[in-house]
Amino acid sequence: MSTDHTARVALSVSTLLLCAASAHAAEAPPWAYPLNAPGAAQTAPDNVAPRHVPGSNVALTAAQITGRDGVPDGRPNEHPPMPAIVAKGRPPAVRACGYCHLPNGAGRPENAAIAGESAYYIKQQVMNFRAGDRNGSEPRRVPQNLMLQLVKSVTDAEVDQAATYFSKLKPASFVKVVEAAMAPATIVSGGMLMKAPGGGTEPTGSRIIEVPDDSERAENRDPDVTYTAYVAPGTLAKGKDLVTSEDGEKTIACKECHGDDLKGDGDTVPWIAGRSPSYIVRQLIDIKNGKRAGSSVPMQMVVEKLAPDDMIAIAAYVASSKP
Ligand code: HEC
Ligand code: HEC
Repeated sequence: MSTDHTARVALSVSTLLLCAASAHAAEAPPWAYPLNAPGAAQTAPDNVAPRHVPGSNVALTAAQITGRDGVPDGRPNEHPPMPAIVAKGRPPAVRACGYCHLPNGAGRPENAAIAGESAYYIKQQVMNFRAGDRNGSEPRRVPQNLMLQLVKSVTDAEVDQAATYFSKLKPASFVKVVEAAMAPATIVSGGMLMKAPGGGTEPTGSRIIEVPDDSERAENRDPDVTYTAYVAPGTLAKGKDLVTSEDGEKTIACKECHGDDLKGDGDTVPWIAGRSPSYIVRQLIDIKNGKRAGSSVPMQMVVEKLAPDDMIAIAAYVASSKP
């Protein structure tokens, strides 16, 4: 960080303190915080035929696919051996990290990509969840609540093992951002948006509609499934302006802390390029609302003046750059 930057940061912190009392809460829009329909919990019966991901003959059971029995690991050759906490968890209190974050750490839009984050950062975030500093802006969102629950029981030794495993994996992007006036109609399944089985489209509007390209592969938790995120035309150019802005009027250029290619910096600043834009926008909203705090405080001055459309544009542009 430059001296110039440090001065600006100090200035923004004091402005932030002055503004804090009058700050308005940002809404938690349903496309960024999708809620399963009531009663739509995953209830797949045990006696169904095993499933497969394309190109693999590993049989995945319903109990694995619904997370009742460890991780459905359809591509065991594509990642190092998982420690028990990642592959099996410690039932019933601690679900397997690899169930939600996937064996390759790619995560899904409703949780988080954690591959290639520093072990320090991973442990820090677990502490943030534990301390009540990462409750999120939608208290009914099940994936967040499950993460919040398990951090109460997971031991520091288990977190260490998981952090070591995920930090050694390579960050990768699985999303393509597309500008289009119309986006697919969606349903919520497994806590994320998916294309409506009946097809159809609707105006994209001020939203990010991020869906797996292949719903079945997503249901089977294929770690290599790809996503398309639809945003309104003009969004990426606006995002680029904000992300690279040097004047500091609305926000601070992300590269000042996240590094030139947004690949992260040191142990404390994570990579953000190419991540799920629904995840990114949720973090920006949560930070603005004070629902993500603790070690995230340096981000508050980045988001304090951003309007909802600014956050959408920033998330879309960052997601479109590659790690
Ligand atoms: C039931 C699903 C689930 C399981 C199991 C799970 N997580 Fe998470 N995790 C989440 C969700 C949801 C988030 C946060 C998403 C958000 O903030 O929008 C998250 C976020 C995180 C983050 C923050 C990532 C970032 O980039 O800031 C870390 C680190 C993490 N989890 C580690 C773990 C570890 C370690 C385990 C195993 C001990 C684990 N998780 C198990 C759902 C899960
Ligand atoms: C003043 C330094 C600074 C600047 C400028 C900055 N960030 Fe950050 N950012 C951080 C730090 C530090 C973290 C880690 C916070 C934590 O420990 O929870 C972070 C975390 C994030 C996260 C959460 C990542 C995750 O894995 O959960 C996102 C998303 C993010 N920043 C986006 C941005 C964007 C977009 C910009 C530019 C508009 C930006 N940041 C500018 C310091 C900064």
